Amino acid sequence: MNYRHAFHAGNFADLVKHATLLAMMHSLIREAGALQIIDTHAGAGAYDLRGEAATKSGEAQAGIVRLMADTGAPAAFASLKAAVRALNPGGTVHLYPGSPLLIAGALRPGDRYLACELRPDDHATLAQALKPYPGAGTRQADGYATAAQALDPSLRNLVLIDPPFEAADDYARIAAAARAILAKRPKAAIAVWVPLKDLETFDALLRRLEDSGVADLLVAEARLRPLTEPMKMNGCAMLLINPPAGLDAPLTDIVQWVARTLGHAGGSGKVWRPVA
Ligand SMILES: C[S@@+](CC[C@H](N)C(=O)[O-])C[C@H]1O[C@@H](n2cnc3c(N)ncnc32)[C@H](O)[C@@H]1O
Repeated sequence: MNYRHAFHAGNFADLVKHATLLAMMHSLIREAGALQIIDTHAGAGAYDLRGEAATKSGEAQAGIVRLMADTGAPAAFASLKAAVRALNPGGTVHLYPGSPLLIAGALRPGDRYLACELRPDDHATLAQALKPYPGAGTRQADGYATAAQALDPSLRNLVLIDPPFEAADDYARIAAAARAILAKRPKAAIAVWVPLKDLETFDALLRRLEDSGVADLLVAEARLRPLTEPMKMNGCAMLLINPPAGLDAPLTDIVQWVARTLGHAGGSGKVWRPVA
């Protein structure tokens, strides 16, 4: 477990992930009663962009800092920008909220949030960050194994799966977790973040999900460049299983802004549904 999200916090991939997550949460809130959100790989909760990791990588400068400066960015980013502004009252972006603070900040009374994180140090920081939120709890546990087991059948369920992809079996474990979740709650909404390196790996995951019983899938992908350099993260995608209605337009705005503004020649953004 060498992965440290502090190097990547607020980069283009976080913008796609977090703006999509908030759009999905807001749609579910509009269409359903109380929500349960399970975050299988929660991270530390929030990230100090003045720290060594973020300064060294420069990824936030090329991501969230550019988004905050773009007054013409699509409305689909408004909730994410508002959360970043709330964390940085001085105006300069020093802190970036991870999925835990974004989710906890959107909870209504009656909604519940469970954040799983394996690393003891990040789990301790996470637990501290979520203390002010009565609907939120944490577990220092394997999120893949916890997700299905922690589903609350009395609530509308949303599961975020956001692994570091440092283990060879992450793709297999994503599909197995989706299968176990859908076996217990067939209508559960699941959001999976994936890096885009090469098409073969991406296609194989889509096939695995289909084999795991996924029938309703929406893909929002942002490519920073064509997928011709498989050793690089050429883009990323959010895979939304059982998505609420009405997300196509805002997600298209999100991925196209990212590809156009933060990408290179040949970058592109699109939202699509795989056909079986
Ligand atoms: C990409 S980061 C999470 C970022 C976070 N979801 C966000 O959006 O702010 C992945 C995290 O998963 C943790 N992790 C790795 N394997 C895990 C597992 N099996 N269960 C729970 N957490 C895990 C890592 O320590 C790391 O903090």
